[in-house]
Amino acid sequence: MKTILTYGTFDLLHVGHVNLLERLRALGDKLIVGVSTDEFNLLKGKQCIYGYAERAKIVGALGCVDLVIPEHNWEQKSEDIKEYNIDIFGIGADWQGKFDELQTLCEVIYLPRTPSISTTSLKKALSQIDSDAIQKIKQGLDGVLDIVKALE
Ligand code: CTP
Repeated sequence: MKTILTYGTFDLLHVGHVNLLERLRALGDKLIVGVSTDEFNLLKGKQCIYGYAERAKIVGALGCVDLVIPEHNWEQKSEDIKEYNIDIFGIGADWQGKFDELQTLCEVIYLPRTPSISTTSLKKALSQIDSDAIQKIKQGLDGVLDIVKALE
């Protein structure tokens, strides 16, 4: 029985998240995901659209995820590895080399990220849609104002 552990914020769940979690799950029999709490995200300077309870529920609903636990801080990893008898700690390559010290406790792997998608890029695209919509409404209102002025 091989157990795999990973951590992340997983806000606005996207295909990059699912690819990573599916690849991790394929390495063994059980995948445990530590989802960052809102308090920990504040500490990391990350502002989420969804709160912890929603992010944890969404991640836990994936077929490739067996258990969700809260990630409260940077230091808990070694305790979790021992508590859950972890064989492999895996995370995206944006963290390459950052968790090598855990190699004394279990295998540590860094998987390539899915290109061209991130929560940050999704948030940016969404805010762009809003500003485009506002721009269109403004143009429409300006047009109405022009008509009113012409009638005066
Ligand atoms: N991840 C991935 N491929 C992506 C995006 C994320 O493999 N395109 C992985 C990360 O490497 C990490 C996990 O998904 O192991 C959770 O990452 P998270 O930071 O929650 O997602 P991001 O989309 O990177 O979020 P942000 O833009 O806020 O950093």
